[in-house]
Amino acid sequence: MDSIAIVGGARLYGDIPVSGAKNSAIKLMAAAILTDQPLTLTNMPRLADTRFLGQLLRAFGIRVDELGADTTVLHAAELTSTFAPYDLVRQMRASFNVLGPLLARTGEARVSLPGGCTIGARPVDLHLKALQALGAEITLEEGYVHAVAPHGLKGTRIDFPFVSVGATEHALLAAVLADGVTVLRRAACEPEIGDLALCLNAMGARIEGIGTNTLTITGVRALSGTQWSVIPDRIEMGSYAVAAAMAGGEVRLTRSRPELIAALTDRMVAAGVEVSPTSDGVVVRRDPLVRLRAVDVTTEVYPGFATDLQAQFMALMTLAEGESVVHETIFENRFMHAPELARLGAEISVHGGEAQVRGVERLVGAPVMATDLRASMSLIIAGLAAEGETIVSRVYHLDRGFEHLEAKLAACGAQVRRIRGEADEH
Ligand code: EPZ
Repeated sequence: MDSIAIVGGARLYGDIPVSGAKNSAIKLMAAAILTDQPLTLTNMPRLADTRFLGQLLRAFGIRVDELGADTTVLHAAELTSTFAPYDLVRQMRASFNVLGPLLARTGEARVSLPGGCTIGARPVDLHLKALQALGAEITLEEGYVHAVAPHGLKGTRIDFPFVSVGATEHALLAAVLADGVTVLRRAACEPEIGDLALCLNAMGARIEGIGTNTLTITGVRALSGTQWSVIPDRIEMGSYAVAAAMAGGEVRLTRSRPELIAALTDRMVAAGVEVSPTSDGVVVRRDPLVRLRAVDVTTEVYPGFATDLQAQFMALMTLAEGESVVHETIFENRFMHAPELARLGAEISVHGGEAQVRGVERLVGAPVMATDLRASMSLIIAGLAAEGETIVSRVYHLDRGFEHLEAKLAACGAQVRRIRGEADEH
């Protein structure tokens, strides 16, 4: 398995172009199941997660062609299978969400349950209830969900008990081809859901209320192909904004949208970082000789502070003056980075969903590893400011969600390199 070695202390100066969003790309790819015409996605990030989903879609008989640096054409002219085996689904939880579109297109699908993961149990009960409300008959057998819609899917009203990104997306991907009107209440309004809904509308769907917590979907009989550019990755953008603040210097994040990370930049400014929005991103400046101030954060659904940026922000707070409280409200077990940051000298104590971070004056490089994608990024960020060398192992987590990570950081002056290991198990 590969590792990444960072020698801390270099200031960062330069531009980092933001890639297309992983969490939008994989949803848009699933939308290709809904039409027999080609769906062309541009600004596609090339990541392990998009590759996993491509592999699964090919197993259904879908053509997935990667063209050039960032274009993918998906063509589901005919589906030869609607079976998603455990071995493919377990590699990426979000692949469970092929169930709804397979069902909507063919009336039947058998998809492995995704199982838990290191950030929490992550059940799919809301997904299944939404599909049942749309008329699917669901049985669970030997770790698989078997769904049939003998009379087709029917529009309905779904009141989610709380906001779920995945369940909203899943209901949307099924309801667009249902007969009649579906209303989703307490729907997620994350920008990636908006991106999916707008793309579906470009394919001929009729979705209203995009960007709000109530989505109204008038089902159509068929969808067509389209060309769609994936929304910029706000989590990647936010991660590099924090990285620049941690290392000090001046970094311009381009090809993105500053409003997508407003909740983060607001906290960064409160901590003493200079953030100036530009027409296509932000410039992040920090004088490394001035110490940051501790500020508290609480993760919330969009437009609140993203749980996917919590680990990175915690890394920043390890060097701030004072004590900050990081409150995680979305996932029950998303502090796995805390003991690893402690290996670099951070002082963090975790009590349930709350972590107290007492800022220290310096971090010192050490070998570390993380158990999920965003936690791994927090270790990279800490390594940029730690004295000496930090080696982050299990880089396959990072490869799931950060495109050209070393190149983007190195272009701004970071001393970062990949150490090639044995072939990855993942
Ligand atoms: C999406 O996960 C993202 N993944 C996550 O990013 C992100 O952290 C999360 O939304 C929150 O923003 C993708 O988009 C692929 P949820 P998702 O359903 O859809 C509970 C990353 O690093 N829940 O909004 O799985 C659930 O356990 C990943 O890129 C149920 O109880 O998140 C969690 O506590 C990590 N039952 C909460 O809801 C359900 O049926 C929110 O989860 C569904 C969810």
